[in-house]
Amino acid sequence: MKKVVAAIVSLAFPFSAAFAQADAGASGQLGILTPRPGAAPRINGAKVFGVRPGNPILWRLPVTGERPMRFAAEGLPEGAVFDAASGILAGAVAAPGTYTVSFTAENAHGRAVRALKLVVGDKIALTPPLGWNSWNCFNHKVTGKDIRDAADAMVASGLADHGWSYINIDDFWQNNPYRFKDDETLQGAERLPDGTINPNKRFPDMKALADYVHSKGLKIGLYSSPGPYTCGMCTGSWGHEWQDAKTYADWGYDLLKYDLCTYNRKRFRNMTDHKGVGTGLEIETLPYRLMGEALKAQKRDIVLSICNYGKANVATWGENVGGQMWRTGGDIKDSFKSMVKNLERQAGFWPFAHPGAWNDPDMLIVGVLGIPSKGVGMTEFHPCALTPNEQYTHISMWAILASPLLIGCDLTKLDDFTLSLLSNDEVIEVNQDELGAQAALVAKGPRAQVWAKPMADGSLAFALFNTAGDATRISIDFDSLGLEGKWLVRDLWRQKDEGIYGVRYSAEVPGHATHLVRLFPKDGARLAPGVSDIRMNAVYVQFEAVRPVDKPGYKAAKGYPCERCGDK
Ligand code: GAL
Repeated sequence: MKKVVAAIVSLAFPFSAAFAQADAGASGQLGILTPRPGAAPRINGAKVFGVRPGNPILWRLPVTGERPMRFAAEGLPEGAVFDAASGILAGAVAAPGTYTVSFTAENAHGRAVRALKLVVGDKIALTPPLGWNSWNCFNHKVTGKDIRDAADAMVASGLADHGWSYINIDDFWQNNPYRFKDDETLQGAERLPDGTINPNKRFPDMKALADYVHSKGLKIGLYSSPGPYTCGMCTGSWGHEWQDAKTYADWGYDLLKYDLCTYNRKRFRNMTDHKGVGTGLEIETLPYRLMGEALKAQKRDIVLSICNYGKANVATWGENVGGQMWRTGGDIKDSFKSMVKNLERQAGFWPFAHPGAWNDPDMLIVGVLGIPSKGVGMTEFHPCALTPNEQYTHISMWAILASPLLIGCDLTKLDDFTLSLLSNDEVIEVNQDELGAQAALVAKGPRAQVWAKPMADGSLAFALFNTAGDATRISIDFDSLGLEGKWLVRDLWRQKDEGIYGVRYSAEVPGHATHLVRLFPKDGARLAPGVSDIRMNAVYVQFEAVRPVDKPGYKAAKGYPCERCGDK
């Protein structure tokens, strides 16, 4: 397998200057497909944003196009404040309701207008969180400076103009009394005399750090465990849940990743024994219920990101305990095998995803990473091990799965290819769609998988994933998937219409790559009578392997997604 050797370029020159497009050449590997953003303004990102009544709003209008640019907002509800110079929406709205705010962005090349639905209510994270997390690059060495640099790079690289907004500190902002005894920067009181959590020396002022990130219109997250210690053996929240939730709110944090770790570990059982409090599922849900409630009581919206590696069918209760996202499996590793494992695990989870509730197959492994890879140790920077084609699969699939997208690489070392993967607005739109549907695996063959999801505007997104190492022609058979009439097919990576199709659509997909398309309804287009949701086919695909499918009109053979499946 060809290894990607990504050129590490500095951010000194504008990303668009070196943004040349390329299709799969002789190598069979795709180059940059995302068209460079135009000079005229284009408003990107989610079209809906949720905030609780009276809690602070923070929304940076994501706009590409040449600066200087003038911004304006109309239809602001009472309490909301828009800063026309920075394009940041702030303030707080006391009255629950759905408000339509119309934003305008104007420069010498044109004018863009787009509406944002501001939903003041109980739910937050109405679209999957988009951002960055420190773990996959800085690991146990993370410092406050790395976090500031990441926030700077999120803006300077232009990523924030595509809707990326969270900067999340993972493990190692707290002290670490046992595991890294020799690291002086991690030594100090675990908590202050009044029980307040004490950050380590690398994070001397957590509030100032949050203020800095917020000043850029970005949000900031942190990490803890319901156990006495985190996975890296830093201080956890055991016995201090409400106090910690309040501290995070006082500091101004917007997301908490809450990692099970020592909570149930044998070594700590004597401390965390819940006998008499509950059994089975009660025990599994208890720590998240507790923190979920504590976070919700704060005068600030803090997303609860549950990290229990998919234990106890978390997808079925994550939302009920106050979570907005939950990991559905173990840590992603820097390999195609690991990425595909985390992806395939998602096949059964689509019924649990909707606005404010997201399955999380773990963070993105593109760009320059610091997690162990073949022959590379922890925190040694290296380009990710996925080939370019595999990176297209990774981003396409995480987008169509409506997964939270948390970039794992060092944002100060972004190369053009990685930037192009993370800044395709039509791909991001699939992820951030207001309907909040997660794709299901609707057809499967020995060399291909077809995943599909409905979009809020009545269009359908399809991902044609070539699981084989060489090129495969993958087809969507309209009849067997329950599609009637004609549909306009748009290639999302290239942002180009391919044409109008009825009966079947097919594309040649390079080895291990994914072709991402959106089908817009044209003449007579609809779902066949009896097909309630394009994703229902996934259920029959699941049955097919174990028993006959007696659905009227279901034609498994026709739905077979690849030609030449025999010639492996
Ligand atoms: C793991 C978690 C990782 C990372 C790490 C920190 O349990 O899955 O994403 O947070 O802990 O120690």
